[in-house]
Amino acid sequence: MASLTNLTRTYENTCPAPSDAGTLRIRGAAAEVQEGSLIIKPVLVSENSQFGAEVHGVDWSRAISAHVVKQLVELQDKYAVLIFRKTGLDNARHIAFAQQLGKELEVNPFFYGKQNDRVGEPSLWDVGNINLDGSLVQPDQRRWQHSLGNALWHTDSSYHQQRSKYSLLLSHGNPVKGGSWTHFADTRRAYADLPQAKMEELEDLVIEHDLWHSRKLASPETYSNPLPHELALKPPAYHRLVQTAPDGRKTLYLAAHAKLVLGRSLEESQRLIWELIEHCTQPKYVFSMEWLDAGDMVWWDNRQSMHRANPYTTSMTARDVRRATVIDDGPLAYGVIEQERNAAI
Ligand SMILES: [Fe+2]
Repeated sequence: MASLTNLTRTYENTCPAPSDAGTLRIRGAAAEVQEGSLIIKPVLVSENSQFGAEVHGVDWSRAISAHVVKQLVELQDKYAVLIFRKTGLDNARHIAFAQQLGKELEVNPFFYGKQNDRVGEPSLWDVGNINLDGSLVQPDQRRWQHSLGNALWHTDSSYHQQRSKYSLLLSHGNPVKGGSWTHFADTRRAYADLPQAKMEELEDLVIEHDLWHSRKLASPETYSNPLPHELALKPPAYHRLVQTAPDGRKTLYLAAHAKLVLGRSLEESQRLIWELIEHCTQPKYVFSMEWLDAGDMVWWDNRQSMHRANPYTTSMTARDVRRATVIDDGPLAYGVIEQERNAAI
């Protein structure tokens, strides 16, 4: 890896064939598990890990009871990604459910101005491709270039010193034509498959995460020099690479935002980080979820998975998806503080 210019990364807008292993296109054919009123259809099942599940039986027309929330969190700890179809949720109920999962939601920084955001709701991110006037976002817009980074493998908000645990992405409007998939990778199983020597090498490493690093990788022309207000809104954050997932297994806390391994050069850092991202995203650890209908919602745990979007294309139809993000308040939420960082170098 000779220079940073070689680090540019892009992905195609891919829609796996229905027969591909790991593709989530469950429409009644998969094995089911019944737990109380819920029906669970696991997606990727291996000897030691179950990753992703489509869940039916939640009555989204009313407030979710504390009992069902507890049941769902237990499923989330086990599967890391839960998919719900045709929930019928609107913004208010989307936010209300997210608020049942943690004390605090992330506040949208509105990079391009709240007045230019068609959702305009501080607890929701508009991650669709629709402008305020209803036209579709185009490649010459900064917002398009920003979105390219979402197509790199990442975990949401790892660039926050107090990170986030859950993301809940909800679709509105008509089904999208032209590539509406989200891809997920099981970082717990990927860690467990590492050689012992690699586990020992990684055990105490601390990573600097920087949102502008992933933007630059995906869109070097636009994001080689982020704007001053962008840099001020999202400074870097520091987190351990090897962490313990909610189910007790070790996992890799990785993202395209990961820029530096403390104590190593940028080139050495990027070599290791992308070696690990590529390890975690081998097809055996990955499934792809197709967005089928308005109201489809996917809820994932950023502490034990990675994901990526399909990049926008100019042939895509309108994609209206909105994300609520639940801030972590657990023991690993606050990352590595400055004093510990100095010790890690
Ligand atoms: Fe994301």
